[in-house]
Amino acid sequence: RTVFVNGSYLPEAQATVSIFDRGFLMADGVYEVVSVLDGRLLDFDGHMARLGRSLDALGIAQPMTDTEWLAAQRRLVADNAITDGLVYLQVTRGNPGDRDFAYPPADTPPTVVMFTQSKPGLADNPQAQTGLRICTVPDIRWARRDIKTVQLLYPSMAKMEAKARDCDDAWLVEDGPTGKVVTEGTSNNAYIVKGGSIVTRALSNDILHGITRAAVLRFAREAQMNVEERSFTVDEAKAADEAFITSASAFVMPVVEIDGARLGDGQPGPVALRLREIYLEESR
Ligand code: PDD
Repeated sequence: RTVFVNGSYLPEAQATVSIFDRGFLMADGVYEVVSVLDGRLLDFDGHMARLGRSLDALGIAQPMTDTEWLAAQRRLVADNAITDGLVYLQVTRGNPGDRDFAYPPADTPPTVVMFTQSKPGLADNPQAQTGLRICTVPDIRWARRDIKTVQLLYPSMAKMEAKARDCDDAWLVEDGPTGKVVTEGTSNNAYIVKGGSIVTRALSNDILHGITRAAVLRFAREAQMNVEERSFTVDEAKAADEAFITSASAFVMPVVEIDGARLGDGQPGPVALRLREIYLEESR
């Protein structure tokens, strides 16, 4: 695989980053995942806009223009002959040359790495036909989940706990006034459908502002579906007609079970499948 490191395109075995890099020592960096379908980047503009917001929130200088990002991502997709898959990119605060909690001087160059992953048949993921079984896990992440940082240990732990409980993924939950409320999935946004209404948590610092979420809600409204942006409880989710998640890599993926409670007839719901179809049609 050819990968990108700080402006160079290299075979992956030759690509290196310092052990003093703030991303490695402090998880001081941000990332984006952009899907590739039929060789084309999906929602590129949205992902680059969010990258800019994440960098601003942490005070890391934007290392490249959107035009440069686009050219670099296209080059990696072409050089690695990616038809379906993704581009992963990460920007860290760089290498101060030593370990220190205080940030290095502002002129320290950020570290930029980028690589592709090939996922043939990404849009035809058979999981869309069976749906996901979700387990809920306490959301003990920090309070700035809107910044897409590389600090992903807790989502990884939550996913492992879900797997240990025979689930496909976890929804993260916290205490609300009327019971446990869902924030989002380990690496996706969470939705339920009840009485024809699509319900998903409103945007705030509590969740990542999903680029797929924005696109899917726009398509839902254009298709005259009712959308409610509000918190929902785990009990409400278990009693929902259907549920689903969205992310750049999963698109729209139905959920059929929450903490052992089957939703509806236990099959992927019509709203989730329709939105998946619309998303894939519109973004290709
Ligand atoms: N995850 N919420 C969290 C916590 C996420 O990590 C993600 C994305 C999303 C969905 O955002 P988007 O639609 O922009 O992908 C929501 C990526 C795919 C990942 O970590 O691999």
